Amino acid sequence: MPIHYNEKQRNFYLEAGSTSYVIHIAGTGYLQHIYWGKRLRSVDQDFFHAYFKPLEDEFVTDNYALTTLPQEYPTFGTGDFRTPAFEMQLENGTTVSDLKYVNYKIFDGKKPLDGLPSCYTESDCEAQTLEIILMDKLCGLKAVLSYTVYNEMGVITRSVRFENEGVKALKINRALSASVDFTDHSFELLTLSGAWARETHIDRRALVPGIQKVESKRCASSPQQNPFVALLRPGTDEENGDVYAMNLVYSGSFTAGAEVDEFGTTRLQIGINPFDFSWKLESGKWFQTPEAVMVYSDCGLGKMSRTFHSLYRNRLCRGSWRDKIRPILLNSWEVMYFDLNKDKLTSLAKQAKQLGFELFVMDDGWFGHRNDAKSSLGDWYVDETKLPGGLSALIDGMDEIGIGFGIWVEPEMVSPDSDLYRAHPDWCIHVPDRYRTLKRNQLILDLSRDDVCEFIIDIISKVLSSGRVRYVKWDMNRNMTEAGGELLPPDKQREIGHRYILGLYRIMDAITSKFPDILFESCASGGGRFDPGMLYYMPQTWTSDNTDAGERMNIQYGTSLAYPAVAMAAHVSDVPNHQNGRITPLETRGFVAMGGNFGYEMDVSKPSDQEKEEIKAQIEYYKSIRHIVQFGDLYRLQSPYEGNTSAWLNVTADKSEAVVFHVKKLTECNVKIRILKLAGLDPSRQYSVVGTDEVYGGDELINIGLIIPAFKGDFKGCSWHLKAID
Ligand code: DGJ
Repeated sequence: MPIHYNEKQRNFYLEAGSTSYVIHIAGTGYLQHIYWGKRLRSVDQDFFHAYFKPLEDEFVTDNYALTTLPQEYPTFGTGDFRTPAFEMQLENGTTVSDLKYVNYKIFDGKKPLDGLPSCYTESDCEAQTLEIILMDKLCGLKAVLSYTVYNEMGVITRSVRFENEGVKALKINRALSASVDFTDHSFELLTLSGAWARETHIDRRALVPGIQKVESKRCASSPQQNPFVALLRPGTDEENGDVYAMNLVYSGSFTAGAEVDEFGTTRLQIGINPFDFSWKLESGKWFQTPEAVMVYSDCGLGKMSRTFHSLYRNRLCRGSWRDKIRPILLNSWEVMYFDLNKDKLTSLAKQAKQLGFELFVMDDGWFGHRNDAKSSLGDWYVDETKLPGGLSALIDGMDEIGIGFGIWVEPEMVSPDSDLYRAHPDWCIHVPDRYRTLKRNQLILDLSRDDVCEFIIDIISKVLSSGRVRYVKWDMNRNMTEAGGELLPPDKQREIGHRYILGLYRIMDAITSKFPDILFESCASGGGRFDPGMLYYMPQTWTSDNTDAGERMNIQYGTSLAYPAVAMAAHVSDVPNHQNGRITPLETRGFVAMGGNFGYEMDVSKPSDQEKEEIKAQIEYYKSIRHIVQFGDLYRLQSPYEGNTSAWLNVTADKSEAVVFHVKKLTECNVKIRILKLAGLDPSRQYSVVGTDEVYGGDELINIGLIIPAFKGDFKGCSWHLKAID
């Protein structure tokens, strides 16, 4: 059984793959965290006394000693002075909480979270769930700590549900999803940090005493910091070392970080950002935290990533596209920006079809009078001056060409210059009498309002109702300012950020359920909301607006720490690159984009015949390997953060097929022998290199490696497709 309770020890044992997680019910009624790490058979020592031994007896008997104990879900005000996971305020203004053990429940399977995305099971025998019930008797607040353990994966998911069983309302000021105490601080903290067009860059630093955290206050998970955090033992690399990682299934403001205390212990936490947050919990009501996904790996970052990937591909993403090969698309954005019309789109789609594309996507600029980023968001009706005959005539053309049709929308936004805003100026997020700050000339619709949510569901459903739209790119291009909701009373104004996200999830759930055959891709000026919350509704994300192969290597490498290749949309674009002006070879742009979910956004009618042949060949190559990239296991071989090269390998679960990519950034003369050692293959099998007569043993490829060609010129790359022949 993955979860069991030892009555004598008062210990809960959670066993997830090669991981154990142990919780103890102390005699005081507080939950004590005992262990998270490599699988154990049992824990027989009395840790309560181990922690108290060096202390004087008088401390042992008092709550004051709480700050010396590892806590399972620490609260504020009764003796633990480290950062709490929970803090509330009662009607009398006091902020002390005292959650103590009441009882527990273990059951097969996993419950969905009310109103929030979460990982799931397809049958009850895949996982077990432990619910530990805690109670603050003074005010009648119940906390249900929920832990799900997947039998086959080293994954534990955690969340907390609060129920006010008291007679008075209270305010939750802080309610994190997970908190784990470690007995030492010999760790590095790894986060995925960046900016617009520079998302998910790996940042690693040693822990020091005090708090070190990342967060978003933007009401979006953000490109500045991803809701992902990991503690690594020093020296951890792709294959070696202990890693303890947390990722939040949430798309709004979050906090994630570690605190090292006076005794050198470490507290790792993740959850909704308590900054500018509070939630009024009336008597009889509940509050659900988002889910934290916790992965422990005893074999470095590679195993950690493969665990996240497998969970997200199979038990977070949903719908008919979850297990389907994704189409190769051509997107109109960098080809024509807002300057689109039916003739241009149709002629580009014709070219695309000839080259082997499967889907044509019309990006921004097709609705209202949207000729630039200054107007029309909210007016989701076709601009017939650009598209005479509307979507229907355009899609008729696509049908004739024989290519699928996809469309761009940004439903959460409104332009002040729009019919929608003129009719409903109160529908946007704003604070009465304060200036409404614009970003990209737009405001955010107030999704804490039911009427606004219903409007969006209705209007976007109309756009998609032809039944002939195969793909939707759901964009979101600004963060929240003047965060206020006109319909919320004063004591609920700080709920606006979370209520917005709940409204967004409700809308996404309604629309994706209504149109189960459409492939949805989320986007937030690129990877500004690349998080597991989005992946629950939309199984792929536009990784970055930066399409330069050079910078994309770093962005995709960082993204791949938590998120699978199938979720990472990656396009070949024109040169000089529109974001940074760099010129890279078409071949390399292809290889880098093939590291994810492959597409293009360049004018494919412009290149020379030779380049068109190259594009055709790239498309054919990706078609022959995409089942490996999209559904296989990833092995990162060389980090673009550490040197002049980047290399990675995808291999099918049965290890019968693999594809290897290698890119060198700056050329060098007269270098040492060029060898790339592989990983993830079956050492006992022979692999042929497709398109050649070369055959090598898996053991040879792992231990000696492949010979890399000598490149002349910057940003050159190569790829090998390997097939087991026995
Ligand atoms: C931002 C996206 O990231 C781009 O790909 C493009 O869709 C534009 N928005 C359109 O306005």
